[in-house]
Amino acid sequence: MKLSVVGCGYLGAVHAACMATLGHEVIAIDTDKAKVEALAAGDAPFYEPGLPELLAEALGSGRLAFSSDIADVKGAQLHFVCVGTPQLHNEIAADLSYVDAAIDSLLPHVSAGDLVVGKSTVPVGTAERLAEVLAAADTGALLAWNPEFLREGHAVGDTLHPDRLVYGVPVGTNGERAVALLDDVYAKTIADGSPRLVTDVATAQLVKVAANSFLAIKISFINAMAELCEATGADVTLLADAIGHDERIGRKFLNAGLGFGGGCLPKDIRAFMARAGELGADQTLAFLREVDAINGRRRVRMVELARDECGGSIAGLRVAVLGASFKPWSDDVRDSPALDVAEQLHLQGADVVVTDPQAVANARAMYPDMSFADSALEAADGADLVLLLTEWPEYVGLDPETLGGVVRQRRILDGRLALDPIAWRAAGWVYRSLGRP
Ligand code: UDX
Repeated sequence: MKLSVVGCGYLGAVHAACMATLGHEVIAIDTDKAKVEALAAGDAPFYEPGLPELLAEALGSGRLAFSSDIADVKGAQLHFVCVGTPQLHNEIAADLSYVDAAIDSLLPHVSAGDLVVGKSTVPVGTAERLAEVLAAADTGALLAWNPEFLREGHAVGDTLHPDRLVYGVPVGTNGERAVALLDDVYAKTIADGSPRLVTDVATAQLVKVAANSFLAIKISFINAMAELCEATGADVTLLADAIGHDERIGRKFLNAGLGFGGGCLPKDIRAFMARAGELGADQTLAFLREVDAINGRRRVRMVELARDECGGSIAGLRVAVLGASFKPWSDDVRDSPALDVAEQLHLQGADVVVTDPQAVANARAMYPDMSFADSALEAADGADLVLLLTEWPEYVGLDPETLGGVVRQRRILDGRLALDPIAWRAAGWVYRSLGRP
């Protein structure tokens, strides 16, 4: 099929390359000319394992092209809207201006029978409003919502083999037509075993934010337990293992520590609360405020732990921070817990040196006043305190003796409960973490 993808961020760039891999002819559009040129040359504008290879293959096949001219979508039967919906400045609601602009830009170029498919995460009700925009412009095009559940760092696998496909479609024959078109797009994915659910448009929009809220709840639940473990001398990792054996609970997403960050979970739960308020149901999601608050407290607690370990003040001390991205396998520093903690320590007068295998460039652009190093050993050179804040495998696998050879004091705080306390203590380190004695 001939498809267009509007927006070449994390979601759009990966989606476009994956759709070409599935055999479709794809034109991907972005207003950022530099990004379009880079992608057309096979350069992914962000770190995502597997994407460079996929881009090379798709570009080589001739089935994938990038453009900054929206008129190039002409001839495509299906148009995926993959633009961002970031948090509004000084508000908890989502900024829908990119989605609105994408739809407006498509209007002159879509034809009767085309299907416009929203993939962006939007507040429920947005798709219904956009369908009216399409109808009012008399385009004859239909609108469906097909939310994306990809995780950064696993985006290619999650797109090619999603654990479910959700089609939110209009009622009646228009809906049947939309389902048939989407089934053609995802024929291989479905044949490979991904379940596909057909819903109304409102449910499809809600599925995404409900899923992300549930994940955030799991993380904040275990971090609330970590607070109690700290107050009682209990061990939150053992607690998570024990409750995780109950299949109804499950062990996944019960890793306590610094909590969640990134471009999705934090802003999605906030936008969900804002939307609930608009719908007159603000009490319904009041618990998400607590989920957000627990998450924020982890970062504060980490800074307190650092101060406490250093006798009440970290001013003038050298602190090595291992990890800047919001999670491993990503160079994304949006709402990164690690960088937040590093920034706080820096503001409190510590000489902070941050390192990360992939995210140093993005972190430096955000915090130009902070110091950065290319490796853990370089960052830890002469350090009075080391903080592990993003659990990249190379940090988890660090040898306590080797690291101990470069620091001034063998003191490590494990913000992700990823290190083996016994091994580090045996090598003469003071080891402390959140939620573990
Ligand atoms: C998330 C959803 O998982 C994905 O389905 C959706 O499409 C987009 O949002 P992502 O933002 O890539 O994906 O990150 P995710 O893997 O969910 O991790 C989010 C944050 O939670 C990270 O900061 C991670 O470190 C943290 N986390 C995760 C924990 O603190 N504990 C855990 O047990 C799991």
